[in-house]
Amino acid sequence: MYPEFCLERWQSLRDWRAKYVLSESGVEPLDLSEIKIPNVKLEYGHTKGLIKVRQLIASLYPGKKEDDVIITAGGAEANHLTILSTIKSGDEVIVEMPNYMQIPGLLRGINARLKYIWLKDDFKLDLNELNEIVSKNTKAIVITNPNNPTGMALSESEIKGIIEIAEDNHVTVIADEVYRGLEHDGKIRPSFVDLYDNAISTNSMSKVYGLPGIRIGWVVASKELVDRMWSIRDYTSISPSVIGQEITYNVLLEREKFMDRARRIALNNMRLMERLISDLDVKWVKPNATVLAYLKLNVKNTYDFSEKLFEKYSVLVNPGECFEMPGYVRIGLGSTNTEFLSEALSLFVRYLREYK
Ligand SMILES: Cc1ncc(COP(=O)(O)O)c(C=O)c1O
Repeated sequence: MYPEFCLERWQSLRDWRAKYVLSESGVEPLDLSEIKIPNVKLEYGHTKGLIKVRQLIASLYPGKKEDDVIITAGGAEANHLTILSTIKSGDEVIVEMPNYMQIPGLLRGINARLKYIWLKDDFKLDLNELNEIVSKNTKAIVITNPNNPTGMALSESEIKGIIEIAEDNHVTVIADEVYRGLEHDGKIRPSFVDLYDNAISTNSMSKVYGLPGIRIGWVVASKELVDRMWSIRDYTSISPSVIGQEITYNVLLEREKFMDRARRIALNNMRLMERLISDLDVKWVKPNATVLAYLKLNVKNTYDFSEKLFEKYSVLVNPGECFEMPGYVRIGLGSTNTEFLSEALSLFVRYLREYK
């Protein structure tokens, strides 16, 4: 059985009751007035995903065709299908940590053997360490890029370094790329599938495009692998939502506009965060991507801190314990309402001073 998903359960039990939700990891969701809603027939649609949507997504990855793409119910189903179709019980998988804990939980659920590689204090991946721990028995390396919770995007040379190690050892790279496009310098890093045939990329409309409610994501991989995922999906949801896919199509046609929106939100709120915490006893490696701030507090039990912050000021952040990293909290800075965000962060700062 899958272990309880600490992060998702932490949020679902509280976010509907919180006044200040700082637990979301994407940019402020769009509403229906901000996107084009086509008049579509509400049929099942192609069970691998609408052909025009797969064609459009494939065109974003050099050399890929619509057959190499499957549309999914969010990044969550993309990761689920990826793990079920590539990893089996007993396989050794290296996982970059910290991480959004879905893939580690899925791997535990199917009794794979996990080997963690922890990012260093500056949230950098040590390629020498990766080279040391990879073995002939390693089936896959799991990377989340840009990373959740740290918000750090790998450089192109780091991506190539990981691929070199994977290639030398005939290892698959599973790259969760749901934050790709939210690099603060506007230079979108290559996808792992752009550079390595034995890679799988998962992605989503939820984070950068602000559309978690349509529940659309995708996987890009070889046609053979994607077809294996398709066979599994026949037994679960049959096909992804057609209305969600039509919205996806329209938004991706104008994706630069939406990516710019996301970047503007990120840059604005990162500056705000920096100002607010400058004189606090807090360590922050300012990220180069995403709207996430992952702070090291001078607090041992950050689960207790986060719970009490929520109870006292109705501010919801995510405790580092849900990333197996006590002492940290993750704050989502995706809001478009600066006044609201300043208020929420001031309460966070106030409570940090009060907490014993
Ligand atoms: C790294 C990562 N992958 C996947 C997901 C799930 O994405 P979706 O909401 O599109 O299912 C999340 C959501 O927080 C995430 O952070």
